[in-house]
Amino acid sequence: MPPLIRAEEPKTFRAPENVEFIAARELRLSRLLIAYIATGLFFMLLPGTFLGVWNLLAISSHRSAETVSPAWIQAHGHAQVFGWIGSFILGIGYYSIPKLRRMKPFALWAPWASLAMWSSGVTLRWVAGVYQWHWRTLLPLSAALEIAAFLIFLPIVSSHPPATEQAASRRGKLDAWILVVITGSIGWLSALVLNLLSAGVLAWRGASPVVPHGFDQPLLVLETWGFLVPFIWGFSAKWLPIFLGLKALDTRKLLWAVALNSAGVIAALLGRPLVSSLLLLAALSVAIYGLRLFEPSERPAKTKGVHVSFPTFVRLAYVWALVSSVLAIWASVTNNSDGIWGASRHALTVGFVAMMVFSVAQRVLPAFSGMRLLFSTKLMFVALLLLSLGCLLRVGSEVLAYQGFARAAWSWLPVSAITEMTAVTIFGANLATTFMQKSNRAELQYRDAA
Ligand code: HEM
Repeated sequence: MPPLIRAEEPKTFRAPENVEFIAARELRLSRLLIAYIATGLFFMLLPGTFLGVWNLLAISSHRSAETVSPAWIQAHGHAQVFGWIGSFILGIGYYSIPKLRRMKPFALWAPWASLAMWSSGVTLRWVAGVYQWHWRTLLPLSAALEIAAFLIFLPIVSSHPPATEQAASRRGKLDAWILVVITGSIGWLSALVLNLLSAGVLAWRGASPVVPHGFDQPLLVLETWGFLVPFIWGFSAKWLPIFLGLKALDTRKLLWAVALNSAGVIAALLGRPLVSSLLLLAALSVAIYGLRLFEPSERPAKTKGVHVSFPTFVRLAYVWALVSSVLAIWASVTNNSDGIWGASRHALTVGFVAMMVFSVAQRVLPAFSGMRLLFSTKLMFVALLLLSLGCLLRVGSEVLAYQGFARAAWSWLPVSAITEMTAVTIFGANLATTFMQKSNRAELQYRDAA
């Protein structure tokens, strides 16, 4: 098997005369990135959102969350977290982390193999959950494929930069965002390992592919707060100071936030939801403080090529994360709080994670995918606006309806589902059309200079 990382960096790799080599590699990396993003968009739309909407319509028409099979709910959650966001992070990670860390070039067969394993793993997980077809075989097989794909990713993004770059890094203090992303990777690997263990146990002695509720809930905290959240904080630390013109990142506070966040995830895994929710709220508050997100900006935001509302939606996403943690505290001290937990989860997954992806992905992906411009900044705005409205309706009506505070709220749930579905469809269409356009190097260089 060829090595993942070349033992010797070709001496000519960054030499000016080797421009053609660099251009050809850049093209291949862009194609790889587009393949990952297209895979993520597929999982987001069909197995993820459409199944989620279907579930929500069924819940709303029967006025009870119990009417939908937990296997379908879990299939939706897995497709969104791993199929959509996981594929995006893998693609952006393979494309950008080695470059940002000025690492040696890696063999490109590896991320393609990783994509094949990752997408088959997530697809098999969905088939096992929704159709229950040969699920005793497919469930562990899918979990093993996902881990195999991740184990290709990890060494590529975590190998050491060449000695000269290490010295440069040390001078500028080892980048905090890398440490945050490493924590997210540990959370991701832990979630995949627990997923494999639970798949093995279910295949051996379970009656169905459904992960028992008591185990599923802490596992969801690990998947969201232990994996998705640190990755978003890491990329926020790297890109938001530039994109939003923020004051310099407070590294110490960000690292404290990561430590508190890890403690919160561990508390959830140990079955202490209240302690966990309090720690997660503290972690998030410190992270926001460290990112200096709500302090006056030092420079104007870079909004050329995206909608001017971009900085507002990024900040709104962090407000949704705060809402999610406050709801989680409320749920922890309330009996029969499924509606509040559901609202908290979607405030985080839709309000924070999806809103950050809608904002930042449309900012960076057109350039990463071969120097393109986003197809439509207006569509970007419409998608973000609809996502915000859908999320507001969803989070509000889930608490009111599921907890029995207002019966009328049952009929708002379908409206929220269709609004969110329209938002993700517009987002997907905007990105897909962007990738189909020809690249526009000159305009983009002008934008980055501006
Ligand atoms: C876009 C519109 C979406 C709709 C209509 C939707 C719908 C649903 C529904 C009906 C449930 C069942 C539990 C409940 O009622 O709260 C659910 C659970 C879940 N959703 Fe969503 N969802 C959407 C987006 C997302 C996104 C973007 C993510 C992640 C990035 C996500 C992740 C999850 C997870 C992790 C669960 C829990 C699964 C489990 O219990 O194991 N959802 N969703």
